[in-house]
Amino acid sequence: MYFDTHAHYDDEAFDSDRDSVISGLPEKGVSLVLNASSSLESSRKSVELAGKYDFFYAAVGVHPHEASSLTRDSLGEIRALASNTKVRAIGEIGLDYYYDFSPREKQREAFVRQMELAGELKLPVIVHDRDAHEDSMAIVKTFPGVKGVFHCYSGSLEMAKELVKLGWYISFTGSVTFKNARKAPEVVTFMPEDRFMIETDCPYLAPVPFRGRRNDSGNLRFIAERIAELRGASLESIASLTTENGKRFFGI
Ligand code: NI
Repeated sequence: MYFDTHAHYDDEAFDSDRDSVISGLPEKGVSLVLNASSSLESSRKSVELAGKYDFFYAAVGVHPHEASSLTRDSLGEIRALASNTKVRAIGEIGLDYYYDFSPREKQREAFVRQMELAGELKLPVIVHDRDAHEDSMAIVKTFPGVKGVFHCYSGSLEMAKELVKLGWYISFTGSVTFKNARKAPEVVTFMPEDRFMIETDCPYLAPVPFRGRRNDSGNLRFIAERIAELRGASLESIASLTTENGKRFFGI
């Protein structure tokens, strides 16, 4: 059974068939889902969805794209939402210097505020880092009491080693199945057994052979297969160790 540690079922891509997709997941071998949020509105929806399904959990927080929308009031509402028992992390938070949808200064401020919140609530964080490795690492290191995961990992092997030393996790998406994934294989091979998870980031990032289509957690198998191949491990062992790692990380 698989644990999708990062999905976006609140996304409008699922508006027409959300309930049937989610309720069909156990049949596809998916035993757990963690829905990551991107805005205050998305955090509300994530918590609502988590209340509907036993196997569904949530993270609440504001994505770097939406960093400009984080105010004292919205942060207060995120703190309140985080008290729900199905909320197991703050995320996704971080920096995106590829799209720069919010000014970088705002992104850093929103990241810091939400790291503080995670520390206060003793919750792990889910970090989105795109083309912002140096600043992301610098902020993470100022919060030694907060642990987290770099999702859809795109950093170097050196950075992965540093994260492992800091007690952090890494998670891999369908991008490990792409032909142009250059750094991923060495990071996948290096990672200690107890420090990596898998995720679809659906509806985005569908793995090969479904690249470009709407993604869902039923496709986790293709990510696990590629990781098993790279590590010379069995598919069953990758499925079970990534599920165990996710359960430990999110306290499930
Ligand atoms: Ni995401």
